[in-house]
Amino acid sequence: MEYFHKPVLLAEVLKQLRCTNGSIVIDCTLGGAGHAEAILDLITPEGFLLGIDQDIAALDAARVRLARFSQQNFSLVRGNFSELDRILAEVGLYAIDGVLFDLGVSSVQFDRAERGFSYRFDAPLDMRMDQRQALTAFDVVNAYSRGDLTCVIKEYGEERWANRIAAFIIKARQNRPIATTFELVDVIKDAIPAPARRRGGHPAKQMFQALRIEVNGEIKILERSFRDAIKWLRPGGRLVILSYHSLEDRVAKNVINDLSKGCICPPGLPVCTCGHMPQLSVVTRKVVRPTPGEIAENPRAESARLRAAEKL
Ligand SMILES: C[S@@+](CC[C@H](N)C(=O)[O-])C[C@H]1O[C@@H](n2cnc3c(N)ncnc32)[C@H](O)[C@@H]1O
Repeated sequence: MEYFHKPVLLAEVLKQLRCTNGSIVIDCTLGGAGHAEAILDLITPEGFLLGIDQDIAALDAARVRLARFSQQNFSLVRGNFSELDRILAEVGLYAIDGVLFDLGVSSVQFDRAERGFSYRFDAPLDMRMDQRQALTAFDVVNAYSRGDLTCVIKEYGEERWANRIAAFIIKARQNRPIATTFELVDVIKDAIPAPARRRGGHPAKQMFQALRIEVNGEIKILERSFRDAIKWLRPGGRLVILSYHSLEDRVAKNVINDLSKGCICPPGLPVCTCGHMPQLSVVTRKVVRPTPGEIAENPRAESARLRAAEKL
């Protein structure tokens, strides 16, 4: 099956990364290499791109897409961007010109039924981006306590019926494990009262989002990963973050704002005692969103928010 993921806010990403021939860029979320291919077009013949993804299917597809570039211009690594320090040490890169995070899952992960990410296809409950990982969606659904399930569904899914869904899951799994996406969808439909089910999108949308975020530990690793990436930028280097969920965007915003502050002494002190120096300057004062035209062409771009910052 063809690997197709349309890169989101592509022109804006390239503009904010400001890469030119010779730039050294890290794409922390390579996916199908849509952004990476366009970056390589700008930075070659002198530049270098390091592409990271934890999903072997994404790396295989990226290798095909980038085959027209010289091996000297890029390297692809299977790994988690939370291990950026180790990966950079192994590749021998430092003083980076640009880092891109295009967070979350790719269209291909959603669209391949057997990955178990989508409520549209019947498949085993999996949802792992890294197929080597032990924890699956099956484990979360069948082994988490009611309290833990409620927290996950409420926090990562922002699901109003989190409590009821967790209770219905606990009841359903007393008979036998909930093994497939469609079995889980049935439990969710039973848990959400009919009038609420008729409003809005698919009743399982929020629950599936919450499960996916939990299985892949998506939010917990963000702050550390952004801070690590910023550490490796050379002065004038750019950080670009594309997020698709308010929790992701909040972490991006907080890290950028925190590192762009100067003195953080309490107000009223006659002299600064903290010695805090800004490390970043904010490039996108307001978050950048896709245009209605892009959303019409690529509905999955709808929730995208882009933030960029420059290393001082
Ligand atoms: C939205 S897609 C990126 C699409 C890509 N920009 C393109 O143009 O094709 C996100 C990708 O990041 C990967 N990913 C998500 N979190 C990751 C992490 N913590 N470490 C490594 N890869 C990750 C996913 O496996 C997925 O392939």
